[in-house]
Amino acid sequence: MRRFVYCKVVLTTSLVWVLVDVFLLLYFSECNKCDDRKDRSLLPALRAVMSRSHEGPGEMGKAVNIPKDDQEKMKELFKINQFNLLASDMIALNRSLPDVRLDGCKTKVYNDDLPNTSIVIVFHNEAWSTLLRTVHSVINRSPRHLLVEVVLVDDASEREFLMKKLDNYVRTLEVPVRILRMEQRSGLIRARLRGAAATTGQVITFLDAHCECTMGWLEPLLARIKEDRTAVVCPIIDVISDETFEYMAGSDMTYGGFNWKLNFRWYPVPQREMDRRKGDRTLPVRFGNVAAMFSERPPHIAFLEERARSSTRTTIRNVESNQCLDNMGRKENEKVGFFNCHGMGGNQVFSYTADKEIRTDDLCLDVSRLNGPVVMLKCHHMKGNQVFEYDTERLTLLHVNSNQCLDMPLEEDKMVPTLRDCSGGRSQQWLLRNMTLNA
Ligand SMILES: *[C@@H]1O[C@H](CO)[C@@H](O)[C@H](O)[C@H]1NC(C)=O
Ligand SMILES: *[C@@H]1O[C@H](CO)[C@@H](O)[C@H](O)[C@H]1NC(C)=O
Ligand SMILES: *[C@@H]1O[C@H](CO)[C@@H](O)[C@H](O)[C@H]1NC(C)=O
Repeated sequence: MRRFVYCKVVLTTSLVWVLVDVFLLLYFSECNKCDDRKDRSLLPALRAVMSRSHEGPGEMGKAVNIPKDDQEKMKELFKINQFNLLASDMIALNRSLPDVRLDGCKTKVYNDDLPNTSIVIVFHNEAWSTLLRTVHSVINRSPRHLLVEVVLVDDASEREFLMKKLDNYVRTLEVPVRILRMEQRSGLIRARLRGAAATTGQVITFLDAHCECTMGWLEPLLARIKEDRTAVVCPIIDVISDETFEYMAGSDMTYGGFNWKLNFRWYPVPQREMDRRKGDRTLPVRFGNVAAMFSERPPHIAFLEERARSSTRTTIRNVESNQCLDNMGRKENEKVGFFNCHGMGGNQVFSYTADKEIRTDDLCLDVSRLNGPVVMLKCHHMKGNQVFEYDTERLTLLHVNSNQCLDMPLEEDKMVPTLRDCSGGRSQQWLLRNMTLNA
């Protein structure tokens, strides 16, 4: 009896499978008779997915993990450029990246008549794969009619492959790529100016030598410049891991900019900007001090040079003691220091800005009470406690809000300059001396 039940179960199961098979056969033989239209609607989608080679190392911005056996080699190569060169070399020069734009940005339509741009990329002993991945990503993800040329400025590299081999390679690309070579190591700013001077596009875009541009990176930047010729714009900058080359989407809650030593830094977006954008995150964030990433020529070349020059800064020497203001490498909220002038720049270089702020990096000298100490606070551009008027005849630095003068440190605190009622004494006289960028 029990055996009969087993048989029934087996038969039923088989029957079900037979029916399923018949159904599948019928379905597919039906499909054989499908017209072309139906065929096309199905296959190309598949084909596109496959041909997009999302399989290779690092495709779609995925991390590349080096197998255990190659870890030693990886560590060795890491030293060359301070990033995982082995991983970088495994990734295609034209690798795919995810589209990380906010939805509101993906659907934005830009006018056809945006200004065109030349891209300037400065490199020094850059790795082949990172440099060319930068170039390929620019070419592949910029609308062709907006991209005039790529100008590579070689800041006196020594690596063999960056010479003839690079010349030959860029010749094969579909966008004009020019290579300028500095005769001697000149630094980023001078190399950029040299590149900028050689461009012919309406807008100059400066990029680092190891970045990758994503879909739609260029149009919004150019659109802002079209709205306002004097705009200096900077995109959201995401991060590529130096370990795995994974593409990690950044945030519009921070922005990249340059401090007053022209070093790249991340800054949080201030609340007033969040408020101004009223939740529309496709609007740009606005700042006073993001350094020139974009510019137009010819006035902008001048602007850039001016910018480099206005970062020409000064030492502030006390006439009485012959010592200098010195930030002592201290941080925000700490007191500014005072030390023997060493003439080496560094911590004794301040900018005296057009707004009459005394800046060191992105901090401003600030005094909040009478006879108070001078502390270094984030520059707020609201004048107030951060305004010092330099009198070129009396050589005084008048703190306007308190109507007191900057004075050398008191006896009891030798290292900290203070405010005192203006007396005309030598301890309140300061010499500002320009330090030029080329010095
Ligand atoms: C990269 O280039 C190769 C060769 O030209 C091509 O086969 C591949 O599809 C490209 N990959 C992407 C993501 O465009
Ligand atoms: C860039 O735009 C200007 C002004 O429209 C035009 O004269 C120039 O030919 C353009 N350059 C290229 C290479 O398209
Ligand atoms: C320093 O440079 C500024 C701006 O270039 C100039 O106005 C000023 O006169 C210079 N001061 C000295 C002491 O050379």
